[in-house]
Amino acid sequence: NEGKLWGGRFAGGPSPELDALSKSTHFDWRLAPYDLAGSRAHANALHRAGLLTESELAELTRGLGVLDERYAAGDLAPDASDEDVHGALERMLLDEVGADTGGRLRAGRSRNDQIATLFKVFLRDHSRVLGSLLLDLVETLASQARDHLDVVMPGRTHLQHAQPVLLAHHLLAHAWPLVRDVDRLLDWDARVAADSPYGSGALAGSSLGLDPTGVADELGFTGSSPNSIDGTAARDFVAEFAYVTAQAGVDISRLAEEVILWSTREFGFVTLHDSWSTGSSIMPQKKNPDIAELARGKAGRLIGNLAGLMATLKALPLAYNRDLQEDKEPVFDSVDTLEVLLPAFTGMVETLVFDTARLAELAPQGFSLATDIAEWLVREGTPFRVAHEVAGACVRRCEELGIELHELTDEQFAEISPSLTPEVRLVLTAEGSVASRDGRGGTAPVRVREQLAELLERVATQ
Ligand code: ARG
Repeated sequence: NEGKLWGGRFAGGPSPELDALSKSTHFDWRLAPYDLAGSRAHANALHRAGLLTESELAELTRGLGVLDERYAAGDLAPDASDEDVHGALERMLLDEVGADTGGRLRAGRSRNDQIATLFKVFLRDHSRVLGSLLLDLVETLASQARDHLDVVMPGRTHLQHAQPVLLAHHLLAHAWPLVRDVDRLLDWDARVAADSPYGSGALAGSSLGLDPTGVADELGFTGSSPNSIDGTAARDFVAEFAYVTAQAGVDISRLAEEVILWSTREFGFVTLHDSWSTGSSIMPQKKNPDIAELARGKAGRLIGNLAGLMATLKALPLAYNRDLQEDKEPVFDSVDTLEVLLPAFTGMVETLVFDTARLAELAPQGFSLATDIAEWLVREGTPFRVAHEVAGACVRRCEELGIELHELTDEQFAEISPSLTPEVRLVLTAEGSVASRDGRGGTAPVRVREQLAELLERVATQ
């Protein structure tokens, strides 16, 4: 059992089959810099508790620094005998500073409080990366909105023409959920920051007079775990992080789906830039929205990572169980997925070219101005129940005649209802319709300009 962290009570080494199952270095090695930072803070705590001399601390700090540099240079890798990142780094530290000094570092800590702490620090780092990538996408949507502030398009419910809206309004509707995802990351971070598990030991805390608050402080936390069992057993911070990544994936997928639809010949709303779309190996004419399709697909993967994690955690008794080693790969995958997806997706959105003439032409079609007739009647004093009936009758008449609402003659309007005087034509354009929806949150150009400013202000404070 040479080289193992737990050999003492075992007469023989583990079977190769157990080794193969147990090993986690192929995925947890990316945590090495975080483990080294934790070790440095722990060495300081041992020194403050009088358990390391000045020179032992200096030697350990030097050794940890060497490992840090070698890792950064790509010159540090676990070997086949290493079980996990913690064991590998201890072996390397012993090689560097000798067993007498190196062997003192493990006092008062366990891989259980170690892994819980450094996984938190790792995810906190990546929450910042993801937050900034999400804000890049938000800003790109905002800039597309700014470039199309007065373009009308068909707004839809049930994927059917509903009411005209501004393209900018629609694009910003995709930005707000992403802003909330960034808020969620920030909320999550504040919660995680308050709870550094180092000092919890295996589950019961430490008898060595260590100072968990000092360690927490050194690792960038605002506080340490109030309960050592919770400190080592809790993984809701992982699940919550996975939820936010899944929600972001779902939010992105809703825009992705629209880009896919909009770029079809039938819709024809948008053209993808050549550098952000792909061709077909057999059909020479093809230009495919692969980025949007991958975004749509990866949302499923992000949801799967969350679901798998929740299944692992369900009914798990306190405190640490080895099942918890299964918490890392899904969340690493969620981080990697979004970190590769978001730059591509943002580039695609940035280079979308909208066919504004087609959008404007389609905006009033499909009787999307029927609500405007009803609301015009209400403003003229008709009860809405009657107004809804009258506007519905206009639609029925148009369907019979195969025309759109604005093509009805004054006589045809008057036949449907004497209340429908020729002035009703004032609201029978998409531009008139959007301009009239000028309450807060509405699609009127004046409100959408304010909304854009509000969004950018919000983003500036995130
Ligand atoms: N590699 C483990 C994990 O990822 C940490 C080690 C704890 N192992 C143990 N036998 N207590 O959770």
